Amino acid sequence: MTTAARTLDTQELEQRVKRMYKEVALEPQREFHFETGRALAERLGYAPEDLNRIPAAAIDSFAGVGHFLDLADIAPGETVLDLGSGSGMDSFLASLAAGRDGRVIGVDMTDAQLAKAARLAAEAGVDNAEFRQGYIEDPPVEAASVDCVISNGVINLSPDKAAVFTAVARALRPGGRLALADIVSTEQLPEGVTCDASLWAACIGGAMQRDSYRRAIEGAGLEIVEWRENDQYRFVSERADNAVRKYGVTSISLLARRP
Ligand SMILES: C[S@@+](CC[C@H](N)C(=O)[O-])C[C@H]1O[C@@H](n2cnc3c(N)ncnc32)[C@H](O)[C@@H]1O
Repeated sequence: MTTAARTLDTQELEQRVKRMYKEVALEPQREFHFETGRALAERLGYAPEDLNRIPAAAIDSFAGVGHFLDLADIAPGETVLDLGSGSGMDSFLASLAAGRDGRVIGVDMTDAQLAKAARLAAEAGVDNAEFRQGYIEDPPVEAASVDCVISNGVINLSPDKAAVFTAVARALRPGGRLALADIVSTEQLPEGVTCDASLWAACIGGAMQRDSYRRAIEGAGLEIVEWRENDQYRFVSERADNAVRKYGVTSISLLARRP
C-alpha cells in the first residue's frame, strides 16, 4: 500500500462521524461499537439523583467515556463551553451547576444532535443552555469568554487535536479550566488502525498516545492539574476490543488550567 493510500481521509471521517452520531441521536437503542445511555452514565460515576433532574432523552443518547464534572466543579454564574455536546447530557448537568446567572454553550457539528439537545432544552424550559453548530477545532465563542470548557468522548475524534487544545486555550479566560473525559492509547496506534475511518468514528482509531496527548495540552499553554484512569469504561465490539487489548486504548479524565 502506498503512503498516500494510508492517509486518513478527513472528509470521509467527518461524514462517518456525522452518520454515526446522527444515529445515536435518533435511534439510541441501536447497538454501536460503544455503550450508550443511563446504565453507562451511572457506571461511569454520574449520580442518579443528578440524572433524574435532566431530560431523560438526553441520557438515552449519552455516548461519553467518563465522568469529570467533579473535576470541572462548576460554580453558579459561570460560563461553560461543552465541546461536542451531542444530545446534551453534560450540558444539562452543567446548566444546573451554573444556575440562573450562568450559561452553557454546547457546540457540535452533527445537526441531529444539535436539534435534539435544543428541542429537549426548550421542552424542559432550560433557558441557560444553548446549542451552536460548529467545529471543536474552531468553536463559535469569543476569546477569553469561558470559565470552564468541558468535553466527553469527543477530542479523540478530531484529526487535529492540537487545534482543539489551542481553541480551548483561546476560549478560556485566564485562570479558566478544561475538564474532560477522552480516549487515549498506551502505544502509538499503527496506520492500519489510524487510517480506518470506521474505527476512528467508533472512538478508537483517533486515540492519541497518552504522552503525546499531554504534550498537546501543554503545547497549547494549559497546565494539567489532575489525570485519572476510567477503568469502568469498555468498548463492546470484538474488533474494538482487540485494539483495546493490543494498544492499551483506555478512557481518562483530566483537569487542566489556563495560567
Ligand atoms: C462520542 S459523541 C459524545 C457526545 C456527548 N459529549 C456525550 O457525551 O454524549 C461525539 C460527539 O462529538 C461530535 N463531534 C465529533 N467531532 C467533532 C468536531 N470536530 N466538531 C464538532 N463536533 C464534533 C459528534 O457529532 C458527536 O455528537
